[in-house]
Amino acid sequence: MRSEGDSWDITTSVGSTALFVATARALEARKPEPLAIDPYAELFCRAAGGDWQAVIEGSLLDHPLLTSDFGEHFVNFQGARTRYFDDYFRRAAGAGVRQVVILAAGLDSRAYRLSWPDGTTIFELDQPQVLAFKSYVLSQRGIRAGAERREIAVDLREDWPQALRDSGFDPAQPSAWIAEGLLIYLPADAQQQLFTGLDGLAAPGSHVAVEDGAPMPAEAFEAALQAEVEAGDGNRIFHQLVYNERCAPADQWFGERGWTAVATPLADYLRELGRPIPGPDSEAGPMIARNALVRAVKR
Ligand SMILES: C[S@@+](CC[C@H](N)C(=O)[O-])C[C@H]1O[C@@H](n2cnc3c(N)ncnc32)[C@H](O)[C@@H]1O
Repeated sequence: MRSEGDSWDITTSVGSTALFVATARALEARKPEPLAIDPYAELFCRAAGGDWQAVIEGSLLDHPLLTSDFGEHFVNFQGARTRYFDDYFRRAAGAGVRQVVILAAGLDSRAYRLSWPDGTTIFELDQPQVLAFKSYVLSQRGIRAGAERREIAVDLREDWPQALRDSGFDPAQPSAWIAEGLLIYLPADAQQQLFTGLDGLAAPGSHVAVEDGAPMPAEAFEAALQAEVEAGDGNRIFHQLVYNERCAPADQWFGERGWTAVATPLADYLRELGRPIPGPDSEAGPMIARNALVRAVKR
């Protein structure tokens, strides 16, 4: 369960969700025709060891990422969202943006695996131990970022805009931001603060991309939470980590503040990519149906 000011490392609480999605990316990358290839995701699973390594090695078959009712769709979802946001960054870089801000970077390896124009600076924000794990695993193997990469170890419920400025971010220059797999882990007031902080630092011509999800109906959420707590399975803790709240749909929030925003329902995007949409009664169905991928450009 969450509390104000809680913190974590890569294998505990919200930190483990970074490993969860990285494991999904590793599974997607192994498919014959993957939607995206993150070559570093598997390294992180192996370095974390335990169940994360076992999933990758196929020796933990009842892990949620390997079930047909949930895992199969979740892996498709991660493949799709990786592809969507990779494409978003290519467009932002193509439009001349040279400052990139990855909020809740987790094990996002875009600084290492995408091709960045000369002069690009990438700011990665997350909790200190999460960033430390990523740097350690990659630097041990001699893997270097393809742009100037600056880590900002900070809690995103605190004064991260000041920390970003202190690291050399220039609010007078356009920037490209991402909040992927983040908003659900913040209470609504912190989401609002995050958007306000971002908007305040984004010069005209800036880009933002957000993974946005509508909250679950309260009763369904309570029931899922209760069932999860009773089951006591350490690999199934999602409902204990999220705030089932939303300050506003992201396209609406940015649209009302001088940004031109487009929201693509995740299900539409999966369909476009030729991946199946889970039915409403499957475990993954409601999650996919509530989710949208949003991008916006500041006028
Ligand atoms: C599901 S992971 C997503 C990581 C990455 N964006 C990706 O898609 O691979 C959630 C990440 O949000 C980070 N996070 C959540 N709440 C945070 C907070 N209050 N401060 C800093 N980081 C936070 C976690 O540490 C974790 O790395």
